Amino acid sequence: MESLLIVVGSQSGNAAMVAQTLKNRLEQLGIGVDMLPEDCADPSTLVGRSWVLVCCSTHGAGDVPDNLVALMNELADQSVDLDGMAYGVIALGDRTYSDTFCGGGRRVDGLFSLLGAQRVGSMLEIDASTQPFADEVALQWLPGWLQDVKTLSPH
Ligand SMILES: Cc1cc2nc3c(=O)[nH]c(=O)nc-3n(C[C@H](O)[C@H](O)[C@H](O)COP(=O)(O)O)c2cc1C
Repeated sequence: MESLLIVVGSQSGNAAMVAQTLKNRLEQLGIGVDMLPEDCADPSTLVGRSWVLVCCSTHGAGDVPDNLVALMNELADQSVDLDGMAYGVIALGDRTYSDTFCGGGRRVDGLFSLLGAQRVGSMLEIDASTQPFADEVALQWLPGWLQDVKTLSPH
């Protein structure tokens, strides 16, 4: 099975910590994982990938973290074709930002979908204002997502 690519959008480390915890768990399960370098702005790194997991927090007013801005812009400007990609989104936010809660993850979801990728399962939204253990929430969500991916494309 092709390695899973994890894309991280994180400014102060929470989403990056979630991504690292999931990487460890996935590798324990025998699943190969590539982590996209956080400063990667090259959209070709996503082309041809069959499954991708996004761990993305929210900054500004519902925006993706700074490290993902260039990649998002390049994907959109080049209308990169993501057809054939299944993806999941773990979005971190703070519900006290009521109008823009988890906006970063929603933006990635919207763009990937626009470019032809298919989201698998529901987006996991984690509220950092009430949930200090975001990685544990993500670990609970992971098996269901893996099952959904398997159902979509059994290997
Ligand atoms: C300056 C700033 C702006 C933020 N804006 C939003 C927002 O618009 N919507 C939201 O849901 N969370 C917002 N947050 C909350 C972060 O997304 C949340 O704290 C998250 O856990 C940070 O993860 P990170 O350390 O991976 O960047 C904001 C946090 C900061 C510090």
